[in-house]
Amino acid sequence: MTENDFVLTGKLALPMLGKVCWKAPSNIALVKYWGKKENQIPANPSISFTLDACATTTSITYTRLENSAADFQFELYFEGKLKEDFKPKIHTFFKRTERFLPFLKNYEFTIETSNSFPHSSGIASSASGMAALALCLMSIEKKIRPDIKDDFFYKKASFLARLGSGSACRSIEGDLIQWGSSPHIPNSSDLFGIHYPFEVHGNFRNFHDTILLVHKGQKTVSSTVGHDLMHEHPFAKERFSQAHKNLDKLKSIFASGDLNSFMEIVESEALTLHAMMMTSLPYFILMKPNTLEIINRIWAFRDATKTPMCFTLDAGANVHVLYPESAKEKAIQFIQDELVAYCENGHYICDRIGKGAKQLSTAIG
Ligand code: DP6
Repeated sequence: MTENDFVLTGKLALPMLGKVCWKAPSNIALVKYWGKKENQIPANPSISFTLDACATTTSITYTRLENSAADFQFELYFEGKLKEDFKPKIHTFFKRTERFLPFLKNYEFTIETSNSFPHSSGIASSASGMAALALCLMSIEKKIRPDIKDDFFYKKASFLARLGSGSACRSIEGDLIQWGSSPHIPNSSDLFGIHYPFEVHGNFRNFHDTILLVHKGQKTVSSTVGHDLMHEHPFAKERFSQAHKNLDKLKSIFASGDLNSFMEIVESEALTLHAMMMTSLPYFILMKPNTLEIINRIWAFRDATKTPMCFTLDAGANVHVLYPESAKEKAIQFIQDELVAYCENGHYICDRIGKGAKQLSTAIG
């Protein structure tokens, strides 16, 4: 598929008003997206578990304008309060998606959004937030074009979400989503995420992700800046080719259920992501002392007990502890006994693999 397949054409019969609502989850990358080309095209393919508990719920109320407006007309409420400072991001998103959603300037939108996780948790909400927004816009498109099929609906939602935030394209569906063109994965695309098309062993079907909130403050470097720094990065070429190799290696690992090899790739990906940040110019460190304490304790516990449990990191200090259903009791006990002490105010979030976004009903629409 190409970008042009997502352009909405023809004479549009625009409904007067309505309301749509979606809840979209966050996701955690196993092979990381870090580095991009123009137009939100990833420099390498990535793959993630879709999460369940960490999610954004967004509704859009839309009212048709008499005449199409010169600029986008919208108000944004975050957790019940008008949020002027979130508007530029949404404005940029509308600008990037207007070609594919030509009705945007025909409406006045009221966008209401909230997260299931605390705003100051250090958990990025761009993936779940942009996914929920893209799905709401697709629901409006479906009112205009009721004949669109589910497959197209979700593909275009992922395509639009990507234009808001790259990793958001992996937050539409569950439970194992791959994004970015790979010569060895049929139908893989730089434009949207797809269901991982190969065999996946039961070991990977009920994974847990306990997110240890090590540092809840704002990150010192945004992902956008971090992606940019990959352009002049001395190790970029090697890194992108390593991501391809890791994705290829996962094929037999997912099929056989080999947890040890899985954990090795996932941890190596997390450390490589942070190594890229530490070796860019300017360089920066997003891990905190407690991030390293937790990593060392996970390694010691795994060595001593052989419990299949590993960590991964986003572009921040928080640690995602990943383990299969079979290790749940031991893992939770260990986290409570040994790791919670390293979390800010003892806070952590128990999440697990999820099935993707859900549409919620609204009184109107
Ligand atoms: C470290 O998707 O937040 O979480 O496309 O600029 O919005 P933008 O970046 P973003 O980058 C996510 C980076 C990551 C790795 C990943 O999720 O693959």
